[in-house]
Amino acid sequence: MAEAARIVLDAAKVPLEYVHGDIGWEFWCKEGDAFPQRTIELLKGVDAALFGAITSKPVKAAEAELSPELRGKGLTYRSPIVRMRQLFDLYICLRPCKAYEGNPLNYKEGLDLVMFRENTEDLYSGVEFSPVPKEVAQVLGAQSKAFAPFANLEGGQYAVSCKINTRRGSERIVRAAFDFARKHGRKKVTVIHKANVVRASDGLFLEAAREVAKDYPEVQFDEANVDAIMMWLLKNPFNYDVLVAPNLYGDIASDLCAQMVGGLGFGCSGNIGEKLAVFEPTHGSAPKYAGQYKVNPIATILAAKMMLEWLGETDAAARVERVVAAVIREQKVRTYDMGGTSTTLDMARAIAGKM
Ligand SMILES: NC(=O)c1ccc[n+]([C@@H]2O[C@H](COP(=O)([O-])OP(=O)(O)OC[C@H]3O[C@@H](n4cnc5c(N)ncnc54)[C@H](O)[C@@H]3O)[C@@H](O)[C@H]2O)c1
Repeated sequence: MAEAARIVLDAAKVPLEYVHGDIGWEFWCKEGDAFPQRTIELLKGVDAALFGAITSKPVKAAEAELSPELRGKGLTYRSPIVRMRQLFDLYICLRPCKAYEGNPLNYKEGLDLVMFRENTEDLYSGVEFSPVPKEVAQVLGAQSKAFAPFANLEGGQYAVSCKINTRRGSERIVRAAFDFARKHGRKKVTVIHKANVVRASDGLFLEAAREVAKDYPEVQFDEANVDAIMMWLLKNPFNYDVLVAPNLYGDIASDLCAQMVGGLGFGCSGNIGEKLAVFEPTHGSAPKYAGQYKVNPIATILAAKMMLEWLGETDAAARVERVVAAVIREQKVRTYDMGGTSTTLDMARAIAGKM
């Protein structure tokens, strides 16, 4: 994927210096760290990064694949992209979901949704217990009556994942969504939540959103429960414009939106902070097609286009997007997901060739 994006970036002739950083499954297996310190140091010195799709596995499966000499040393696998988001405070996950004309996979022509997902908090805070230590159970029992049904369970019989949302984190992601709406003349921002059930953390998110919305009177503010909006988005997607959500709901809703505009082969995203931004396709390593050069590189190429925008190379970004749109419209080059037999590199070269 990175190879395909590089073909297009080179054709865009933007004067960028590229450096390679090690990240992903291979480095977990070999070194016990999927996000080596040298890559962290590298990221401190760059303006932006393009993150290729990687493999990630649950903790136990990860332990089993660790090099024998590294086992039993207390190493625990954590998703490098989640760590990167937290370490560099990449608090905005921006996912544009645009239906490019003529894409046979479009759910409806003309869709153009933009998702802002909070990227560092919520259920992805990483504060989790399995087994649950007695001290944690004691505090929960003492502080919450709702804990009673779990109070007599052994620590290994249940697990706890904390959904932590801060006022600052909620306010800044909602503000980012409204700023975007204002800048791009978007009409409406919809906040996704479940505050009627998850009263504490989603309640805080919704309250923060309502406060921030007051600063943008020209943009319509709208609220939706996460379950309901899954239905409504599918039924009436044109009722929505910019969407903003806490981390988990944003993750789920953005995959639905991505599917409406072509699926994983088209889903791109930016993890954006104040100083650094990391762009990536939303898909994973698609192991079933590993090494076959079959998958669609458009998601990664559109992620590269977002990176150019962030770097201020807006003309080059617009050119990449125009060419991607033209190649999709022409339908001559199509990867398997678009019903064709073109390879990953055929697609990249077709796009690069039109630059
Ligand atoms: N941010 C990331 O790097 C990221 C995201 C999701 C999954 N993952 C990891 O990737 C691995 C595989 O996960 P998965 O199989 O659930 O999801 P996946 O996104 O890798 O692939 C799921 C399916 O989607 C389709 N697909 C994916 N990318 C495509 C593309 N570019 N073009 C056309 N079709 C495409 C394929 O049918 C594929 O089998 C796992 O280890 C997972 O943890 C990583």
